[in-house]
Amino acid sequence: MDSIVVQGGTPLRGQIPIAGAKNACLTLMPATLLSDEPLTLTNAPRLSDIGTMKLLLESLGAEVSALSDGKVLAMSSHGLTSTRADYDIVRKMRASNLVLGPLLAREHQAIVSLPGGCAIGARPMDIHIDALTAMGAEIDLRDGYLHAVARGGLKGARIALRFASVGATENTLMAATLAKGTTIIDNAAREPEIVDLARCLRAMGAQIEGEGTPSIIIQGVDRLHGATHAVVTDRIELGTYMLAPVIAGGEVECLGGRLDLVAAFAERLHAAGIEVTETAKGLKVRRNGERPRAVDVITEPFPGFPTDLQAQMMAMLCTAEGASVLEERIFENRFMHAPELGRMGARIDVQGGVARVTGVDRLRGAPVMATDLRASVSLILAGLAAEGETIVNRVYHLDRGYEQVEQKLSAVGARINRVKGI
Ligand code: UD1
Repeated sequence: MDSIVVQGGTPLRGQIPIAGAKNACLTLMPATLLSDEPLTLTNAPRLSDIGTMKLLLESLGAEVSALSDGKVLAMSSHGLTSTRADYDIVRKMRASNLVLGPLLAREHQAIVSLPGGCAIGARPMDIHIDALTAMGAEIDLRDGYLHAVARGGLKGARIALRFASVGATENTLMAATLAKGTTIIDNAAREPEIVDLARCLRAMGAQIEGEGTPSIIIQGVDRLHGATHAVVTDRIELGTYMLAPVIAGGEVECLGGRLDLVAAFAERLHAAGIEVTETAKGLKVRRNGERPRAVDVITEPFPGFPTDLQAQMMAMLCTAEGASVLEERIFENRFMHAPELGRMGARIDVQGGVARVTGVDRLRGAPVMATDLRASVSLILAGLAAEGETIVNRVYHLDRGYEQVEQKLSAVGARINRVKGI
């Protein structure tokens, strides 16, 4: 397994290009299942999760070609051969469940494995199941698989999600495009990735209004056609690299960055005393010498502070002036990076979903273990500020969601490299 080695203490200066959004691309790719005409995505990120979704779609009989060095995905689902998403692929990535809505809509049936590590029964997909059931699907859980059938096709319905789940909103939105009649999704998630999905579906001929608000209205159509769509900028990669100069010092311009994608996050940086400015090409972040101030953070659905930036923000707050409180409200167990940061000298006290971080003058490099995708990048960020060498082990998590992290950070002056493992 590869490791990343970081020598801390160098201020950063320069530009970092931000890729297309992983989470948008992972929901745009299954949208190909809704049509027998080609769907082409441009600005796709080059990540192992995208490769996993490609394998899943191919296992269903779709054709997926990665062109232009992987930045363009040309897909076609004219000859689907299967409606079964196998455990072997789904266990690698929860987002595999996003084939459920499209398969039900187009093929009127789907068998989709539940992702691994689930609580007893169907709880982690209960919101998806309730929504699709309201549209006339019959869904049973057997042998770890959801068996879903929509006899005579899905029907439009008014659906209030119990929680604004991103995945459930995406599955329901895709399913509703080909349902008979009108679907209204209340308490819909408002994330930019959902807006991007709605734009792509509209380019394919879907009738959708209200994306980005809590009520999405979809008028079902008989068929969708082909389209070409550019994937929206990755706001999580953007926020991650915005934090790099805050932690290491210096000034970095994130190319393609947009303030509307990271408004709640940028507001917290501002409160911490960090300058964020919009430029013609993106967003520029500068730390002028002083340590950032401690700030409190609560993760919430969009437009609130994203849970996917919580670990990176914690890495920054470890060296801030004063004590901060971070409250994680989306996922129950998302502070696995805290003990690893502790190995680098951070002072973090975790009680349930609340972490208290007392800023220290300086972190010290150490060997640490990446436990998940965002945790791994938070350890790299911490390494940029630490004295000496930080070795981040198990970086396969990182490759799921960050393309060319070493190249992007070394281009702005960081001393970082990858050590190939067995
Ligand atoms: C998506 C993102 C992920 C991000 C998360 C929250 C993708 C591929 N992944 O994940 O990076 O961290 O949004 O912004 O886009 N839940 C249920 N029942 C359900 C569905 C969800 O209880 O049927 C719970 C989950 O266990 C979790 C919370 O709701 O605690 C949020 O989940 P959700 O918004 O669905 O996240 P994902 O779509 O899985």
